[in-house]
Amino acid sequence: MNKLEGKVAVITGGNSGIGLATAQRFVAEGAYVFITGRRQGELDAAVKQIGKSVTAAQGDVSNLADLDRLYATVKQQKRHIDILFANAGTGEFSPLGAITEEHFDKIFNANVRGLLFTVQNQPRTGRKWSIWFWTASVPSFFVGLGWATY
Ligand SMILES: NC(=O)c1ccc[n+]([C@@H]2O[C@H](COP(=O)([O-])OP(=O)(O)OC[C@H]3O[C@@H](n4cnc5c(N)ncnc54)[C@H](OP(=O)(O)O)[C@@H]3O)[C@@H](O)[C@H]2O)c1
Repeated sequence: MNKLEGKVAVITGGNSGIGLATAQRFVAEGAYVFITGRRQGELDAAVKQIGKSVTAAQGDVSNLADLDRLYATVKQQKRHIDILFANAGTGEFSPLGAITEEHFDKIFNANVRGLLFTVQNQPRTGRKWSIWFWTASVPSFFVGLGWATY
């Protein structure tokens, strides 16, 4: 039997990169996945690529109304979440001295505010367990030049 047979996963930032690869792997292992991202065109392409057992919900993780819509869709279609992968995020080079408010807000909205509310606002469905994980980065240990905000 596949390891994730019958499991429901939510993967934010699932329309490209690490999130999309994870979604493909989870479906291959038997899971049903909900993927998110801001770009509808990329979401449509990702759904095609994944092929089955997938629903796309367009939205920005830093926008609480978008998160509410995502979780309402999950509850309506599957009722619960077994695996939450808070993966949506972004990086942008900006050396100390050149950091703007816009740059700071972009990074913190996606990587901090978005991650926190993705985890906090997920529906409580009375299930005994679920797995939550998120993507981290080497800059949390070693800040390369220009990656301080990230
Ligand atoms: N690749 C690396 O070397 C590396 C290293 C360390 C950590 N990471 C982290 O790993 C995660 C995935 O990275 P990746 O390399 O796979 O990059 P990627 O291909 O650019 O994927 C980022 C995903 O996040 C989504 N996203 C970004 N901002 C968002 C927002 N505000 N709301 C909703 N979705 C948002 C993007 O979709 P939309 O643009 O359509 O919203 C996309 O699906 C990111 O959090 C990144 O910071 C990556």
